[in-house]
Amino acid sequence: MAIFTFRAAGEITFGVGAVERLGSAIRKTGGKKVLVVVDPGLAKAEAFSKVTRSLERENLPWVLFDRVEPEPRTVIADRCGETARQEKCDFVLGVGGGSAMDTAKAAAILATNGGQARDYQGLDKVPRPGLLKGMVPTTAGTGSEVTFTAVFINEEEKKKAGINSPYLYPEMSVLDPEMTLSLPPAPTAFTGMDALAHAVESYTSRAAHSLSEIFSLEGIRLIAKSLRRAVERGSDLAARADMLLGSLLAGIGLANAGVTAVHSLSYPLGGRFRVPHGVGNGLLLPAVMEYNALSLPEKFAKIAGAMGEEVEGVPVRKAALLAVESVNRLARDVQVPLRLSDLGIPESAFPGMAEEALQVTRPLENNPRPVSLEDAIRIYRSVL
Ligand SMILES: [Fe+2]
Repeated sequence: MAIFTFRAAGEITFGVGAVERLGSAIRKTGGKKVLVVVDPGLAKAEAFSKVTRSLERENLPWVLFDRVEPEPRTVIADRCGETARQEKCDFVLGVGGGSAMDTAKAAAILATNGGQARDYQGLDKVPRPGLLKGMVPTTAGTGSEVTFTAVFINEEEKKKAGINSPYLYPEMSVLDPEMTLSLPPAPTAFTGMDALAHAVESYTSRAAHSLSEIFSLEGIRLIAKSLRRAVERGSDLAARADMLLGSLLAGIGLANAGVTAVHSLSYPLGGRFRVPHGVGNGLLLPAVMEYNALSLPEKFAKIAGAMGEEVEGVPVRKAALLAVESVNRLARDVQVPLRLSDLGIPESAFPGMAEEALQVTRPLENNPRPVSLEDAIRIYRSVL
């Protein structure tokens, strides 16, 4: 049995109304002045006032950074880190989807390490710990509230790349399903498919271990159970709670076992065509599952079971393919884009995209089946 280690955020608070405890959770970490990092839309939303009320109840002074953009560029993280330094904040709070949380995580390490975000893209390039940081997700989601990664587009190279460092693990995360109630159906669908990708990929990763698998498989079950309902009826608090917990569990799976070829193949979609992260992953997940299914039939059969398929008495290879069908059906039902041509990506771009995807090596090394350049092109073609 291989040795494994396991990590997540320092403290996780989960539940309806949990955001009221945000201020006291920040106090407990020792934070005294908070930089609140959001996108401009959220800064005006009702959910955001719950955050600021909780800070104010604890008499925590706070400063707003509301210039987060979707699929953020490294310069946004640089500006955010600069604001943290200038305002002498000692705590950075990311409130929002992956873009806001990733910007907050990067700003925290930039404020203490100096330099620019692009200097730290890669693995273990951050020399020193950052400011204290906490996360409040409003999507279910990226799992960024429990991971050590922050992803940005490097404009010069037109490439997406992660800053991956243990100093990015948040000291605390507060997850309140009510904070996700106003997310419209389309982003609910594609962020949910991203969470499902995290769960499936971490479960089938070559780096998966007996502890990470528990989180990944339960993440699959919760997301499969409740994503349709969360998309169809956004006000359904029970469905939103399942999704937020499912995405948290999937994020813990991802932090500890990594992701696989879905994420590698979707990076060029974000870097070159600014396709939202969840849209790219949702589109590629069924195709990559089909490519991988028969290299790990037992695990894929378990995924089918967690997705709610009847697998009792079904031969294992057939059950494995049921997992692919089940995810395909879910993607269709929640109406995420299913074809690269729907996103305006032409077949002529595939060889370049495949070459770039092959450079996103860490997830690819975790993939249960090797992926060559030709394989990558073939997978893109299968979703043309
Ligand atoms: Fe993701």
